[in-house]
Formats: sequence, structure tokens, C-alpha cells
Amino acid sequence: TADAAQYVPEGADWAALRSASAGCHGCELYRDATQTVFGEGPVPARLMVVGECPGDREDTEGHVFVGPAGRLLDKAFEAAGVDRSKAYLTNAVKHFRFTERGKRRIHQQPRRSEVVACFPWLREEIRVVRPRLVVVMGAVAAKAVLGPSFKLTEHRGQVLDHDGLRVGVTVHPSSVVRAENFTEAFDAFVADLKAVRES
Ligand code: URA
Ligand code: SF4
Repeated sequence: TADAAQYVPEGADWAALRSASAGCHGCELYRDATQTVFGEGPVPARLMVVGECPGDREDTEGHVFVGPAGRLLDKAFEAAGVDRSKAYLTNAVKHFRFTERGKRRIHQQPRRSEVVACFPWLREEIRVVRPRLVVVMGAVAAKAVLGPSFKLTEHRGQVLDHDGLRVGVTVHPSSVVRAENFTEAFDAFVADLKAVRES
């Protein structure tokens, strides 16, 4: 079955990976999306943060976390004392997955098969960024890195050792945006970010 591996140049640096990712047809998602949205930030970086997949704004602009989830993330980083400019931000899946409802494009969670197909890009980003801590946000990112049976709710706020990586676990900022009790959800997200950075 198809995946991103055949599009990944071997031993490439970040710039070469990013440009190669623009031509990836490793799964079906490239067909309807505008462009590949590769991760961004300093290379190397001590902190890597992994989301789910680009949203509507990210798809249009070609940059990670520039929409509503990104604004929430900025606020949470500020509250947790994380400098966004020093972190490498990316997603488990590099193309926007959506359905159309009238003129609106509604985000859909990527399928497991798409997460698996896209993983070679994330694996290469980890290789070149060499993070000391990888923070996975939400179940899709957590399962991409930690495996399909991983239970986010049992481990949020923790740092796990996995395949020689230190992996910090928290929820996705979009879940905070949508939360019924926003303040509680925001505070818990910030507490997770602080806890994983301090452990
Ligand atoms: N949600 C994500 O997971 N990543 C983005 O880049 C934007 C929204
Ligand atoms: Fe390639 Fe990932 Fe885009 Fe699928 S989502 S086409 S694997 S970059």
C-alpha cells in the first residue's frame, strides 16, 4: 500500500525534506487539499510539538497553527512560559482533511491509514530536529508516535520513554477551543504543558 516513504529523500536536511513533501502523494489527502503543510521552527530544537493535521487556514496559508487552534496554542504557551519561536511545530498528517458543507470546509479527523502513511515525514522531522522532548497534542498525534492502542486520557500530563524519545502527552488545542467549560479546559492544558516540560 502507498505511503510517504517513497517520496522521502534519504538522509536529507530539513529544507530538502520540506520541498520534497510538497510533492507527496503518499495517501489520498493531497488530492483535495491546497498544499502540504510541513512543520516549522528552529532546526535543531529542544522542543517539538505535534498536532493532528492542518486546518482550513493552515491549508490556505501553508503554515502550521495559524488558525483558531494556533491562537489558543499561543495563549497556552504564553501561560505555560513556552517560547513558540524556540519550538518546532508540526502535525502527524501534513494535508488538510475536510468535507464541504456549502462554502465551508469542515475539518475531519484523519484516518489511521493516513496517519500511518504520513509517518515517514514525522520520523524524518524528529531525525533532523533532534528534540529533547516531543509533545503530542491529542489522540491522533499521540497514536502516531506511541502506537494505535495508546490511551491519551490515562497519560495526559505525563512524559513517556518511547523508542529513545521522551514524549509528553496532552490534549489538542482544538478540544480546548470547543470545550464547554473553557477556563477549566484551558487551565488543564496549560498545566499539562508545564508538567511535561518540567518532568
Ligand atoms: N490543528 C492542528 O493540529 N494543526 C494545525 O496546524 C492547525 C490546527
Ligand atoms: Fe503525503 Fe502525508 Fe499528504 Fe498523505 S497527508 S499525501 S502521506 S504528505
